[in-house]
Amino acid sequence: MTRAFGAGGHLPRAAHLVGWGAYAPSQVLTNADLARMVDTNDEWIVKRTGIRERRVAGPHETTASMGAVAGLRAIAVAGMDPDEIDLILLATLTPDYWMPATAALVKEAIGNTRAFAMDVMAACSGFAYAYATAQAYIASGMARNVLVIGAEALTRFLDFTDRGTCILFGDGAGAVVLSASDEPGGALGFELTTEPSGAYMIWVPAGGAAAPPSASTVAGREHYIRMEGKETYRFATKTLAATALASIRKAGLAPSDIDLFVPHQANIRIIEAVAKGLGLPMDKMFVNLDRYGNTSAASVPMALAEAVNAGRVKVGDHVCIVAFGAGLTSGAVTLQWTADPANGLRAESIRPEDVHIRMPEDWNSVDQLPPALAAILAAPGPVEVDLSDVVPDEPAATNGAAALNPAADGNGAADRNAAADRHGAGPADPNGSGPGVHEHSPGESRAARGAAAPGGAGNNGSGTPATAGPATDGTVAPMREHEEVNS
Ligand code: COA
Repeated sequence: MTRAFGAGGHLPRAAHLVGWGAYAPSQVLTNADLARMVDTNDEWIVKRTGIRERRVAGPHETTASMGAVAGLRAIAVAGMDPDEIDLILLATLTPDYWMPATAALVKEAIGNTRAFAMDVMAACSGFAYAYATAQAYIASGMARNVLVIGAEALTRFLDFTDRGTCILFGDGAGAVVLSASDEPGGALGFELTTEPSGAYMIWVPAGGAAAPPSASTVAGREHYIRMEGKETYRFATKTLAATALASIRKAGLAPSDIDLFVPHQANIRIIEAVAKGLGLPMDKMFVNLDRYGNTSAASVPMALAEAVNAGRVKVGDHVCIVAFGAGLTSGAVTLQWTADPANGLRAESIRPEDVHIRMPEDWNSVDQLPPALAAILAAPGPVEVDLSDVVPDEPAATNGAAALNPAADGNGAADRNAAADRHGAGPADPNGSGPGVHEHSPGESRAARGAAAPGGAGNNGSGTPATAGPATDGTVAPMREHEEVNS
């Protein structure tokens, strides 16, 4: 079989997708919660975006910690030891720090001693770009087993006074393992585009070299995501179908040959436009944005893991993943599925509380939740939103189920509601009973256990907390949580 790659070239070696996994933090932020912070309402958000709720990383979680859990799950699904990975690529726009690369922290956390590790920055297209990078390393023979992660702590970079952006984004991580193979299958066609004329349509104005962090940039809220929503929407609807189509054609296929599309989970209307543009029904589009919102580089790998665990993919199927984002960028990968979907159950062996990110000895971090958001999450919301899916034909696994969690029945449809009770595993919980990953530094204090301060993911690289409130006294505040969903 000939595998077309780019303009008429050939892949010297196939890269099979052999592992997949995801992690979603347990704190849930509903549309009703947001309506208590900004002038918005559930009906508007659902109608214009399809999003009903999103996840928020706990104070003890960072991009690295979430990425490490998803990565370990993907490695478990691949049936590998972490040390079999020789390259770690982590796509993110919310790194823990400007340096080192978040991928380096993940390498240590997963117990890998061999890999070289780096971050890939292409915003919401980051996972597609990182996938293509991994493919190139494998095809060239420079790497054999590559862990590709998309992970984001976006809520650390949201302006919770801006209703145009804060309703859209959420936190989480997804990962795949790509492995060299002499057998046919794996990625068959790629398309990656960059359109700098839209560079300032979605951006974070301050914190970089062009506008280094200062008291005035922090006061001006310039370290938060800003976006021209309408223009971005136009770009997405114009570009996504074209990017997907180009990768499908490079794979030597037609849209009707694709069994499942896993699009970037930005907006249901954008996904509908892709389906329309490709002349396909919506039941070919996998959708989980109603529960997670836009998790940027994590969105596609989280959705892919959920789709596979929900039984939406079988060996031999053609899958197309497609994303767009700041840059403006777009990326698509058309691949032939080769792994046994039942392997997804292996992810259950990875417990987030067993994964640790080492924090610096002298770390003096503070609570990373923006105070306004912390207050909302601490107080039980009055309204439970209806989680019936926005896409009529989507299977039950996406209908409010903890579908990222490969359940015992093999289709990932764990009962989320059974675990949706609210419990008080707050940030001060030191012993692993709280959700998510714990970070420790020796001799840690309550504050020292906080997540890396946003700006790299937190302090604008300045040491000045960007979104952080003052450290608390360690009181455990009740938080709304869903069972650690994941995958
Ligand atoms: N709640 C209630 N009303 C809101 C609102 C909110 N959260 N946000 C905007 N509005 C209001 C606007 O002020 C406007 O009011 P007006 O008519 O009185 O001026 C009205 O709703 C329509 O706003 P508009 O911006 O035209 O809405 P839209 O249909 O374009 O939807 C987005 C806005 C952001 C949902 C949409 O443009 C979008 O999804 N863009 C792409 C964003 C994206 O995907 N970014 C990530 C890229 S990876």
